[in-house]
Amino acid sequence: MTPERWLVTGGAGYIGTHIADEFISNGKSVVIYDSLYQGLESRLVYLRAKHGVEIPLIKADIRDYNEIESVIRKYKIDGIVHTAALKAVGESMEKPDEYFQVNLEATSELIEIAKRNGVKKFIFSSTAAVYGSPDTMEPCKEDGPKAPISPYGDSKYQAESKVTAFVDTPGNFGTSLRFFNVVGAAAPELLDNSVENLVPIVLGKLNKGEAPVIFGTDYPTPDGTCIRDYVDVRDVARAHLAAANATTKLPPTMNIGTGRGASVREIIKLVLDAINKTDSAVIEDARRAGDPASLCADVSLAKSAMGFESQYPLEASIRSLF
Ligand SMILES: NC(=O)c1ccc[n+]([C@@H]2O[C@H](COP(=O)([O-])OP(=O)(O)OC[C@H]3O[C@@H](n4cnc5c(N)ncnc54)[C@H](O)[C@@H]3O)[C@@H](O)[C@H]2O)c1
Repeated sequence: MTPERWLVTGGAGYIGTHIADEFISNGKSVVIYDSLYQGLESRLVYLRAKHGVEIPLIKADIRDYNEIESVIRKYKIDGIVHTAALKAVGESMEKPDEYFQVNLEATSELIEIAKRNGVKKFIFSSTAAVYGSPDTMEPCKEDGPKAPISPYGDSKYQAESKVTAFVDTPGNFGTSLRFFNVVGAAAPELLDNSVENLVPIVLGKLNKGEAPVIFGTDYPTPDGTCIRDYVDVRDVARAHLAAANATTKLPPTMNIGTGRGASVREIIKLVLDAINKTDSAVIEDARRAGDPASLCADVSLAKSAMGFESQYPLEASIRSLF
């Protein structure tokens, strides 16, 4: 039987390469579409050598609709994992139009192209940013309030509704997965090269001999610092495999997290432990606007709908970076 062939947009990126790795390990074939705006070809060189397979890379922009349609036809794509996006929350405030173009319009067009070409499966990378800045400490539920506070979160939230319309059509499959804070790496070659998340930011500071900064130490949390849900990138990849293999209809959106929170102080301590440093100065700064005290996932839906549960403890995710 010919293996199922998946197009992974943004497949040279941090999460996209981990999804490609997981899919290939489980008998699927993948084609990568990435502009290399942030992605790295070296990650695909590593994956090709690891699996001993060809992994085609199409270097093109997701907004080049003729190109993406010809790729889908040429490779007879069965399913699309759509991770390509702009993801810097701060930058999205400065360039909202570009964020809506890449994250919303291109997703909408990609879905139209999928429909025209008989692609039936679509899995979309969404984000906890759709929940915005909740004023409760309760874990976020998929059907709870959504109030994105950045063009990034808003563009993803609006794109979800396009994906929902597609997956609700009889005969189509898929879902939008809302990742919380993604950490870890399956191999040094696949490390996150962006500085959007706390762990790479803390590590970067410590590596330069500088003190990590904590924004806000007076939150109503046990140690006064913000709490987030850190999920291992290998678990995120496993969630995609579970969604791709699901034989029953999936909920249109699912949280992908651990259901456990860790505070900024705890993260700094774990990073220090991992690099065998006993202590480091920290700079305590004022709260940043829009940072909720706690943002954690209610993970019950992904478990009941597709049997997905995270496996990697946070300590292991942080150790995997070294
Ligand atoms: N990293 C996280 O913690 C996190 C959390 C929630 C959601 N997400 C979402 O997961 C997805 C993957 O994120 P990531 O952390 O791997 O980021 P990443 O930047 O490493 O990967 C995104 C990839 O998309 C590519 N890309 C960007 N714009 C493109 C364009 N116009 N055309 C073609 N390719 C383009 C980049 O080159 C990059 O390889 C994104 O959609 C992001 O919004 C990430």
